Amino acid sequence: MSTSIIGQRVTRVDGRQKVTGAAQYALDHPVKNLAFGYPVWSTVGSGRILNIDTSKAEGMPGVLAILHHGNTPPLYRPAGHYEQNSRAGEVRPPFEDDKVYYYGQYVALVVANTFAQAQEAASKVKVTYDTQKPVIDLADAPAPPMPRTMHYERGQATQAFESAPVKVDETYVIPVETHNPMEMHATIADWDGDRLTLYETTQGVVNHQHVIAEMMNIPLDRITVISPFCGSGFGGKLFPWPNSLLAPLAAKQVKRPVQVQVPRALMFTTVGHRPLTQQRVRLGASQDGKLVSIQHDVQQPTSQVDTFVENCVGVTAMMYACDNVETHQQIVPTNIGTPTPMRGPGIVSGLFPLESALDELSYKLNIDPIELRLKNYTEQDMSYSAVRPFTSKHLRECYQTGAEKWGWSKRTPQVGSMRRGNEIIGWGMATATWHAGRGSATVRVRLNADGTARAICATQDIGTGTYTIFAQVVADKTGIPLDKIEVVLGDSSLPPGPTSGGSTVTATVLPAVDEATRGVIDRVIALAQEAPESPFHPKNVQPGGDPPKLVMTNGRIHAADRSPESGVPFPDILASARLSGLEAEAKTSPQQAETQKYSAHSFGAQFIEVAWDPGIARLRVTKGLSVIDAGRIINPKPGRNQILGAVVMGIGMGLLEETYYDRRNGKPVNNNFADYLVATNADVPELECIFVEYPDLHVNDYGARGIGEIGLAGVAPAIANAVYHATGVRVRKLPIRIENLIGGSNQV
Ligand code: MOS
Repeated sequence: MSTSIIGQRVTRVDGRQKVTGAAQYALDHPVKNLAFGYPVWSTVGSGRILNIDTSKAEGMPGVLAILHHGNTPPLYRPAGHYEQNSRAGEVRPPFEDDKVYYYGQYVALVVANTFAQAQEAASKVKVTYDTQKPVIDLADAPAPPMPRTMHYERGQATQAFESAPVKVDETYVIPVETHNPMEMHATIADWDGDRLTLYETTQGVVNHQHVIAEMMNIPLDRITVISPFCGSGFGGKLFPWPNSLLAPLAAKQVKRPVQVQVPRALMFTTVGHRPLTQQRVRLGASQDGKLVSIQHDVQQPTSQVDTFVENCVGVTAMMYACDNVETHQQIVPTNIGTPTPMRGPGIVSGLFPLESALDELSYKLNIDPIELRLKNYTEQDMSYSAVRPFTSKHLRECYQTGAEKWGWSKRTPQVGSMRRGNEIIGWGMATATWHAGRGSATVRVRLNADGTARAICATQDIGTGTYTIFAQVVADKTGIPLDKIEVVLGDSSLPPGPTSGGSTVTATVLPAVDEATRGVIDRVIALAQEAPESPFHPKNVQPGGDPPKLVMTNGRIHAADRSPESGVPFPDILASARLSGLEAEAKTSPQQAETQKYSAHSFGAQFIEVAWDPGIARLRVTKGLSVIDAGRIINPKPGRNQILGAVVMGIGMGLLEETYYDRRNGKPVNNNFADYLVATNADVPELECIFVEYPDLHVNDYGARGIGEIGLAGVAPAIANAVYHATGVRVRKLPIRIENLIGGSNQV
C-alpha cells in the first residue's frame, strides 16, 4: 500500500488543458451558425406586465426574434421538485404569465445575429408595469404560512435556559451573499430535428437533463447535456435556472443554435444566492461551563416562486453534548430572486451564530474557548431519537493539533492584550463541520488494445479534482500510468453519476471506479486463461500444478506469487484474441442499513489571527489554520486547494461580502464585480491546512468523506471571535467592517 497512488499529491490530470486554454467551458464549444440571446429583465420588484412594446427593437439590425410571455407557449414545471430527485433552480418557468415576483426576472429574450445586436435591441424593448410595493426586508414581510417551518426539540430547553446560572441571548445576521463564479451561467442550445444538445456550465449534467426534459416535455433520450469544465459553481450551478430553458426555446423558434449567457448583473437575481438569515441563539450554561440549554431560532427570506429552506439549525442539535435543545426555522416569502445552496449551505450560516455565542459564553465564564468546547464534547450524535455513534470523529485531535501548531497556549485571553507594533492582535477559533453524504454512481472502465484505459461517468469536475481521482483509482488498480488513462465526464449520455453537490462526489464515485476497474481486470484475466497458446491456459500450466492465481500489476497479468516482469502486458492478451478492448461497468450505492446505524460528519477546527491597527482603522486577517477531519484524503494537493480556497471565501464572508437591495424596487445595488467585494490576493494571508487522516470505512472502503464545503464552515465566526479578542467589539452582523470597530474599547 505504501506505493499506492491513492493519497499521493497528484497534479490534476486536466491541469494542462486548463492552463493552456484547451479546456472548453460552456461558450467555448464551437457551434456553427450560432445566434445570440440577450434578456430583458423586470425593473420593478413586484407587479404585473401591462405591455411589452417590441416595435422599435424588432426593426433593428440582426434581430431574429423577441420572445416573451405573450408569444411563447408556457413550459411545464419540474415534476420531481417536491421529491428533491430532480430539481430546478426555481419551480416557476420563465414567461409563465404576466406576473413579476422580483427585480431581474426575465420578461423577454431578444435573439439576434450577434451578441452586440441582441444587447442593443434588448435595451430598446419597452415594458410597462402595474407596479406594487415590493417586500424586500424581512421586517416588512407578512407572516408566513405555517407549513414552511422546521422544528426540533429534546429535553426542556426553555426551562433549562431560565434556570441556567450563565446565559447568552443574542441575535446574529448574515446578509445575502452571491456566489459570483468567474464563469457566468451560460447555455448553448443546438437542435438536430427533435434532438436537443445543451452545452452548459452545471454541477449536475444528469439532473440538468432530467429537469429540462420535464419542463420542455422532451423524452429523456432526446436530450444531451454537455459540461466538461465548469468555471466554478459554489452551489449556484447545482440546478438549471431559466437561461437553460430560454436558449432551447429560442433555438427552436429561430431554427438555429442559440446561446444565452447570464449577464453579471443578473447573476445577482436569477441564479440564486445565500439567503439572509436572522438567527437568535440562546445558550444556558453551568458555572463550570457545561451547556444546559441550546436554543436556535432562524428567520429566513425566500422568494415568491419557491420554498427554499437554508437549513441553519440542522447541526445545532448534533454539535455539543446538551440535554435540552430546541431549534426552529421559518421561511418568509419576499420579492427577491430564489435563494439556493451556496457552499456549505445552512451549516456555514448556522455555525456563525452558534460558534460566536460559544465564544461570548467563554468570556462570561472566563474559560478558554477550546476548553469550553472540550467540556461539551460529544462522542455521540444526540440529535436522533435513538442516539447514534459517529462513523468516525476526531474533532478532539483537530483542536489539540491546531492548538499546538498555532501556539494557542501563548494566547492571553484579555481583550486587546496582544500587540505587534501598532497593531492589536486577536486570536479566534471555531468548530467546523459538514455532513458526510454518499449517493449512487455508475462507472464504466475500458482497457484498450493500445495500452490505454478509459473511465467514463456522467458526473462532472467543477474544479475540485474529480477527473484526477478517477484516474488515480484506475492507475492504482491496473498500474497503467496516469498519462495513459483518459477520464471522460460531464456528458449526460454517459452512465449516470452524481451531482457535484454537498461534498459527496468523492465518497460516491470511488467505490464505483474501484469496482468497474476490478471488473475489467477480471475479464482480462479470464481472457488470459482462455487462449490456447496463453501461458496461463490450464493446459500450459505445469502438470499436476494448480492454475496460478492471476493479478494485474504495472499493466501486466502475472501469477500472484511471481514478479510482474514474468507476466504478459494486457495489450498482448487483448491482441491475441483480436479484441480492441474489454470493459466493465459497476453501479454502487451506499448501504442504507449501515448508514442508518451511524451519524456521518466531517469535523474541523478553524484558527484565525486578525490585526487591528486603531491608528488608521485597518483590519486584516493575518493568519489562518484549518485542521480538518474528513476521513482519508485521496489527493492532498487539490484537497488542500479546496480547504484554502474555502477559507479565502470565509474571509470574504467575514469581512467583505454583502448583496444590498434597493428597497424601492428590489434591485441589487452592488450587482457587479466592482461593488460586490470578495477576498482578493491582498486580503489573503498565509493559510495552512492540516488533515488528521482517519479513514472512515463506514462511508466507503476508501475511507474518504469529501472536503468541498467544510473548509468554509467556522471561518466567519473564528474571524468574529478574533476581532472581539483584539478590539472588544462583538460584531453580530456580517460582514465585519471597520465602521463597527471605530470607537471600540481599543480605539486610540
Ligand atoms: Mo454545494 S452548495 O452542494 O455546491
